[in-house]
Amino acid sequence: MRLKGKSALITGSARGIGRAFAEAYVREGATVAIADINLAAAEKTASEIGAKAYAVRLDVSDLASIEAAVKAVETRTGGLDILINNAALFDLAPIIEITKASYDKLFSVNVAGTLFMLQAAARSMIARGKGGKIINIASQAGRRGEPLVAVYCATKAAVISLTQSAGLDLIKHRINVNGIAPGVVDSDMWDEVDALFAKYENRPKGEKKRLVGEGVPYGRMGKPEDLTGMAVFLASDDAEYIVAQTYNVDGGQWMS
Ligand SMILES: NC(=O)c1ccc[n+]([C@@H]2O[C@H](COP(=O)([O-])OP(=O)(O)OC[C@H]3O[C@@H](n4cnc5c(N)ncnc54)[C@H](O)[C@@H]3O)[C@@H](O)[C@H]2O)c1
Repeated sequence: MRLKGKSALITGSARGIGRAFAEAYVREGATVAIADINLAAAEKTASEIGAKAYAVRLDVSDLASIEAAVKAVETRTGGLDILINNAALFDLAPIIEITKASYDKLFSVNVAGTLFMLQAAARSMIARGKGGKIINIASQAGRRGEPLVAVYCATKAAVISLTQSAGLDLIKHRINVNGIAPGVVDSDMWDEVDALFAKYENRPKGEKKRLVGEGVPYGRMGKPEDLTGMAVFLASDDAEYIVAQTYNVDGGQWMS
């Protein structure tokens, strides 16, 4: 067990990739806060995972909610060792149709949510004096732009940049900040992405998802479980000397 006795908080872990992270962390011996804006879903997921998982209501775009979630973890487990910033929203529109409302919503969750969640976790870890591990979930979308995906791509580029700055600033406290950039992962989010592509590229539902899967060098879309090895590694003692990096886990989609 590589995370025995550790206390983790995973944002947006009621479903999808975050849930797979939570399951893997519990298997490795950690206690995990399933922290999600959808409390009912978080409670269901926690009860399905078992006694080492518990639900916390969290809206990463709300500072008071972030503070309350970190407090809840401290009260429950005595302190926070690992944060995964996983919660994010997606949207898609041609440049000339992007709305300020969509821009604000995505930046408040994907970028401000990542930064202020990271800040609250770092404050808690510094006060405790035991260091910690913070993992930000970026995306291949953060490595380059896409014609219909400008805002989401920009938020994920910002996540990679914040990972670098926070990684460099916090390592003196023995807090390692690193990131994971998934490629295309079969999740509820991708079903929503597919529906948006169907609308804007005038395709039948499911076609975009099939095509992107066929385009992955590995030969298929990722599954949430494909990302858990890196998430466990980056949270473990084996990653102690890794600072401010974002790793592509994408079946060969992107090389950097
Ligand atoms: N699915 C993919 O193909 C893919 C690819 C690259 C990167 N990613 C990234 O991986 C992460 C997880 O993606 P997923 O596909 O599992 O997404 P998902 O949409 O299936 O799950 C996201 C979870 O976040 C929660 N959430 C939304 N807003 C929140 C908020 N304000 N506060 C707290 N929780 C909130 C949702 O309730 C949901 O449980 C995201 O950062 C996403 O950008 C996904």
